[in-house]
Parts: sequence; structure tokens; C-alpha cells
Amino acid sequence: MRLPFRFIPLVLALGAGAAQAQGVVNALCSTDAPWCEAAAAEFTRQTGIKVNQAHKGTGEIGAQLRAEAQNPKTDIWWGGTGDPFLQAAEAGLLDAYRPAYINDLHEWAVRQYAMSGNQVGGFYTSTIGFGYNTDLLKKKKLPEPKCWADLIKPEYKGEIEISHPASSGTAYTVIAGLVQQMGEDAAFDYLKKLHRNVTQYTRSGQAQAPNVAKGEVAIGVTFAFNFEKWKLDRFPVKTAAPCEGTSYEIGGIALVKGARNKANAQKYYDWLMSPAGQAVGATVGSFQTPANRTFKADPRIPSIDSVKLIKYDFEKYGKSAERRRLIDRWTKEVESLPR
Ligand code: F6P
Repeated sequence: MRLPFRFIPLVLALGAGAAQAQGVVNALCSTDAPWCEAAAAEFTRQTGIKVNQAHKGTGEIGAQLRAEAQNPKTDIWWGGTGDPFLQAAEAGLLDAYRPAYINDLHEWAVRQYAMSGNQVGGFYTSTIGFGYNTDLLKKKKLPEPKCWADLIKPEYKGEIEISHPASSGTAYTVIAGLVQQMGEDAAFDYLKKLHRNVTQYTRSGQAQAPNVAKGEVAIGVTFAFNFEKWKLDRFPVKTAAPCEGTSYEIGGIALVKGARNKANAQKYYDWLMSPAGQAVGATVGSFQTPANRTFKADPRIPSIDSVKLIKYDFEKYGKSAERRRLIDRWTKEVESLPR
């Protein structure tokens, strides 16, 4: 086939920069879709290894790996909250691996390896908070929320969006955090009151920032950095770190046991932990704090130094039985209530 003349230089340029084809790796990714896609494309460009990658919520992927256990189709899983990764490790679905850059990681990332017999790595960290649309709140004459206690006030009825804990690692982080912060029964009383104000539970915690920015809902509860990109794009969005304290995630990365393309999965893993791989997120608006501390992270990443953090027990709340128990209780006692 003859290419139109103007296309030839582009094809030559791509050919010159790209590596030769080197097989495939099958990946699942639970962080923001643009980051998943950009990382896969750049890795392929640098190595020639084709990445077949799907994007799903962290809880959904945990369930998929359990379903695939007898016949694994996935080689590597990366991005998303760490708890479902720890549960997959406990279920024997992951392989131990210490990546090339392990000595360059923050202590909180290395701790995940220690806790899981090297089956789960810490990939990034970020904190739970609220984001709100200032125009919408003004129009409705509602105050800006600052504390967990504000969100259950009757004036916010129908104004709050959060994700669903069965599919979303974000929602599980919120619930497990409140349980640790308030005590379990008090946390469930709180969640019942919050439920009255919730307009919808989305599949993923990645929905709240765009929905708030576009004015589809006034307040979103999710990882606070998600709103940053929209603030930078001058949408009427502000964020708050809950005044009582809040939970946080250590995002995960892991090799799947029985991976058919193990060598390529290890190469992808190493690259994702390298400064080049870790820097990709911020280039597409994902402003979590990267695990690799040896490069100058994007200055737009919001500092979490002033956020009051709870002491999150990843060991306990990373256990399958605990997650199942809390989600079952939430489904029975909270989700079933009328709104
Ligand atoms: O938007 C990215 C992100 O918030 C991550 O920081 C987090 O690990 C992941 O999404 C959680 O996604 P989900 O709620 O869909 O499991």
C-alpha cells in the first residue's frame, strides 16, 4: 500500500524511536485510566513489549483474580488501593518479587513488601478527603464542608457522591478508616447518616472529581488529589482534608501467580517502579505521591504533610475476612436503608 506523502516522515520517526517487538504482557490496572494507558504506551515504545491491559476498580480486579485462579490470564496488576492486593496475596494469588528499584523506595512502600512476603509492593500514596464545587455550594447557599461531622448534616441531603465498597478500593479505604477512627459501631451509625445524604454510589472512586468539577454533584468523597487536575484546569473546585483526621492508601503493584509472561511482567514491574515509570502519572494529571524517592516529583503533587492521618492498620484491614465482614455489614445495615 502506498502511503500518502505527508504520512511518511511520521512513520519513519516512530520506527526509529520504537524498539523491536518483544512479546506481550497481560496487565490489569486500577489507577486512573489515562495513567494506565500512558504507562503501557511508553513501556511498549521503550521495550517493544506489547501490553494488553484492562482498567477496572481495585475491588473488581481482586474478584477477577480469584475467579481466574485455576487458569490465570493476568501477568501483572498495578495501581489501585493496597488492601485488595493484600487480600489477593493472602489468597495465594500472587508471586513474591523484589523489583530492581526496591532500595530507592520510600519506607512506607517498602513496608508493604515486608508485610506481604514481597507479594505486594507500595506504588504510591494519597489521602482521603472531600472535593466540592464552590459555585454549586454558593448557589444552594450551603457552607463548605471541613469535617466528617459536616457531611451528615441534613442540609447536604442528595449533595454527596462516594463510591461502592464492593467494587471500589477507595470506598473500602473510607469505611475501614472510619471504623478505625470512630470505633466500629459509631462508624456504622455515621455511615447510616451519611447514606441519607448520598446521591449515588459509583463503581470507582475515580468518578467523583470529574462529577464535582462539572457540577453534576456538589461534594465528592474520594482520594483528595483527584481534584487537583480540575483545580489546575480552573474548574470551581476546592478540597478539604477532614478536620478529625482521615485514612490513606498505599497503592499496590504485584505479579500474578502462574503468569504466562513472567519475564515480561517483571520488566514492566521494574520499569513502573523506575523514575521514568513513576513520573508518568503526574504527566496525565494523577498526582499521588510516588513510591520512588530518587527523582524530583512533579511540584503540582499536593503535599500531604499537613493532613491529619489516622494510624491505618494495613495488616488487619488488608485481610479478606475483615473486608468481607465490613462490606457485608455495610450492605445489610447501610445500603439497604431508604434514602
Ligand atoms: O484515581 C486514582 C485512584 O484514586 C488511586 O489513587 C486509587 O488507588 C484508585 O484510584 C482506586 O480506584 P477504585 O476506587 O476504582 O478502586
